[in-house]
Amino acid sequence: MNLSFDLNDPHLIEDPYPIYSAFQQKRPVFFAQFGGERVLVVTKFDDVAVILNDRETRVNRPGTTVPEIFAGSASESLWENSISRMDPPVHTKVRRTAGNHFSQKNVSSFKVIVDEVTAEVFDEITTKKIEVVKSISNEIPMRVICRLLGIPIQDGRQLLNVTNSFLKIFLPINASRITAEEINAASRTFIDYFQKCVKSSSDRNRDDLISQLTFGPLQNGDISLAQLVGLLRGLFTAGYETTAAGISASFHAFASYQEQFQLLREDTSLIANAAEEILRWETPVQAILRYSAREVNLSDALVSPGQAVLLLTGASNRDPARYTNPQNIDIRREVGDHHAFGGGRHFCLGRSLAKLEMEAVFREMTERYSQFRQPSNLSRRQNLQFRSITYLPIELTGH
Ligand code: HEM
Repeated sequence: MNLSFDLNDPHLIEDPYPIYSAFQQKRPVFFAQFGGERVLVVTKFDDVAVILNDRETRVNRPGTTVPEIFAGSASESLWENSISRMDPPVHTKVRRTAGNHFSQKNVSSFKVIVDEVTAEVFDEITTKKIEVVKSISNEIPMRVICRLLGIPIQDGRQLLNVTNSFLKIFLPINASRITAEEINAASRTFIDYFQKCVKSSSDRNRDDLISQLTFGPLQNGDISLAQLVGLLRGLFTAGYETTAAGISASFHAFASYQEQFQLLREDTSLIANAAEEILRWETPVQAILRYSAREVNLSDALVSPGQAVLLLTGASNRDPARYTNPQNIDIRREVGDHHAFGGGRHFCLGRSLAKLEMEAVFREMTERYSQFRQPSNLSRRQNLQFRSITYLPIELTGH
């Protein structure tokens, strides 16, 4: 096998796993171009864990914060105020503020909404043949995040129209002038919308996340308005995209591994573990970029300070040194601390919520259906970093 690595290669996007596996065996750490810079690509589970958990790694290239192409634009503000783009000490402060609202106690109170929305979406299915992404995967996280934030679903759908454009912000080096304009327009939409929400929540005392964050941290001066708007944008996009990817992957998984679905039907106490296993098997965020702030020893390389490191979590989650037969789904597997939710200080803030959503979907799947069949091919988003299914035909068999 030719061991070249091009993140835009359609073959790699189609099925990256044989390529990841070849790298793990032959060149577990190697240099490649990513977003216009030379990055050290890391594929093994233990090495990825070392960098993720190193408190000294950074998300911004040393000495930089905002890419030049966005200077002075709406995107500059959203870039600077995206929690996932922050380094300490700002990250520590914003994360603490947001974390209080995603504590276990708070998230448990989200369960009622998640269960209600999930049942509602499944109730709306009236045919045996469905396209899962449109009917289920996109609908549940969209309705859940809108209900939690306290925004109308129609507004959520409008914001979705600009989300794809906005997400191009995370590969700014590739952004041409035209793309930058598209990203700026999307950023402006998010800023205007969430500023309006914050303003209107000050007029009406409500119980949703926007009101809670406005009356709490914003009013107390713990975070600025720009940081709150950045956080709300982050919750909206992070809460939607990845969870939708996880739900689609679950339908595809259970149609491909029917015996695993039968096992789940027979023993629903496996639901929580099954969700983790599917996220390990088909990791929605396959690559995470970090900058090492000091010399770090990996199994096959020494990372020098300032080096950009691309962590292939899609590969590490299928590392045979960590998981036996990693290419297979085994919902009884002890899946442990997989990398689908990242790790270290940027560990996914919404993990418990995402798990609630996937578990609610699995409950509905096992209660309503006995089998899933995928009659024809699926389509995927042409992006290796954010891996998701965009079209998935499924035939449902009821009990
Ligand atoms: C299956 C669903 C999900 C997956 C696979 C997932 C995955 C991830 C990953 C890998 C990261 C770390 C990114 C990095 O280190 O650069 C992350 C961060 C984050 N996630 Fe999730 N996520 C999911 C659902 C959610 C939900 C439902 C929410 C909230 C509504 C959410 C909010 C966030 C936030 C705010 C961060 C940034 C945390 C920080 O930088 O401190 N995620 N997520």
